[in-house]
Amino acid sequence: MNLPAELVSLLRACQRAAALTGAGVSQESGVPTFRDSQSGLWAQYRPEDLATPEAFRRHPKLVWDWYAMRRARADSVAPNPGHYALVAMARQIADFTLITQNVDGLHARAGSPNVIELHGNIRRVKCFDCGKPAAEWHGDGQSVPTCAACGGLLRPDVVWFGERLPPEALEAAWAATRACQVFFSIGTSGLVQPAASLAHVAKEGGATVVEINLEPTPLTPWVDFFLRGKSGQILPALVTAVWG
Ligand code: APR
Repeated sequence: MNLPAELVSLLRACQRAAALTGAGVSQESGVPTFRDSQSGLWAQYRPEDLATPEAFRRHPKLVWDWYAMRRARADSVAPNPGHYALVAMARQIADFTLITQNVDGLHARAGSPNVIELHGNIRRVKCFDCGKPAAEWHGDGQSVPTCAACGGLLRPDVVWFGERLPPEALEAAWAATRACQVFFSIGTSGLVQPAASLAHVAKEGGATVVEINLEPTPLTPWVDFFLRGKSGQILPALVTAVWG
């Protein structure tokens, strides 16, 4: 693979980097994107029917079942070479922050330390009323499991449309983005805020911005390096080219 020599030497000297990942990174593991999950039985619903607090209030069981299906799918797939290359990068770059919009937990399963999960994690569950995380839950298949502390309904610990991103995650993401020398935007369409602004913040702070995507995105005209292709191929090739 032909990787820019200038980027390779830049990464060899890099001390602080941050990477933002999106659905494209999990695509090669076979995780369907949000929209692709709405197939079969689920095709009749709009995102607002499945991924908002209002939807959960109206039809908690419907929303719970949809996430249970997505959780089962995420559990049945494995991290791909792109995930593992990001683990390798974290070992090579002194200060490396991985920020993800993915809720599938595959970065952590691959072994990436301290992943900032901007949109939560489908494998965690919390109480809809009191917010307390639930380490385990028991479903009878008929109704939504309830919180051991307050009896409220349990929900997936993900960020739904219309909800705020977890403030600590967001603050940590901004801080790493402002401080980095190299910023990667990988497998994300760059359309959803505030993740979409991170690359611009990095650039304004003087970082070199590298985008890895199958297709150009609204970010592409702004980046310093656009590596077009599959993240599961480009990332391992980059790690090998830079660190051998
Ligand atoms: N390698 C690299 N890029 C890829 C690959 C791949 N193998 N496969 C797909 N892509 C790119 C697509 O070209 C697209 O630009 O990944 C991007 C995926 O875009 P989206 O599906 O919009 O995913 P993402 O950017 O993560 O969406 C952000 O929006 O739907 C909400 O909350 C959801 O977290 C999600 C957020």
